[in-house]
Amino acid sequence: MSAIHLRAMQWPDITEVHAIETSVFAVDDWSVEQFWSELAQPTRHYVVAVDDGVIVGYAGCFVLPPDADVQTIAVSPASTGRGVGTALLQWLVACASRSGCAQLLLEVRADNAKAIGLYERAGFERISIRRDYYAPGVDAHIMRLRPLARVVDDEQ
Ligand SMILES: CC(C)(COP(=O)(O)OP(=O)(O)OC[C@H]1O[C@@H](n2cnc3c(N)ncnc32)[C@H](O)[C@@H]1OP(=O)(O)O)[C@@H](O)C(=O)NCCC(=O)NCCS
Repeated sequence: MSAIHLRAMQWPDITEVHAIETSVFAVDDWSVEQFWSELAQPTRHYVVAVDDGVIVGYAGCFVLPPDADVQTIAVSPASTGRGVGTALLQWLVACASRSGCAQLLLEVRADNAKAIGLYERAGFERISIRRDYYAPGVDAHIMRLRPLARVVDDEQ
């Protein structure tokens, strides 16, 4: 079985990434332009997971020390349950740590048990709830991972 590789997202990846986006998010999916806008901003850091030349997942964060926020994370339906989401999340945590952030925050639909499980396994805790955040009756959980390990990247 081939290994799945993580690498920084690049402009030409957006078409493939957007195809996954529309397949996993039924509502509020990002447009191609939103991905372009995200990649254009130096505070944003995006990664893709590649399996045999095909992008199977992606994630990104907004880094503004001392805080970082998870912007998005998704895995193509055919590739879930293999640890890709966990690996992408670990990449975001390392990115935030390397950038000197003390905590990583995110918001997640309260009914997204799979994502909440992923975040809890990584050590995130629920710190508050935003009622009707996504739609009437659809709340958001705000989750936080802290403290982040202090990581110094000798390559940079
Ligand atoms: C949430 C999401 C990113 C998880 O991605 P994933 O690649 O399936 O995540 P993982 O494989 O790391 O973990 C998922 C499950 O697989 C299991 N798993 C991980 N590696 C495994 C392996 N090698 N063998 C068997 N099972 C494994 C995990 O234990 C976990 O089980 P659980 O969900 O029953 O607790 C993905 O389902 C997704 O894209 N959902 C739609 C988009 C979304 O909701 N994004 C989050 C918005 S806040």
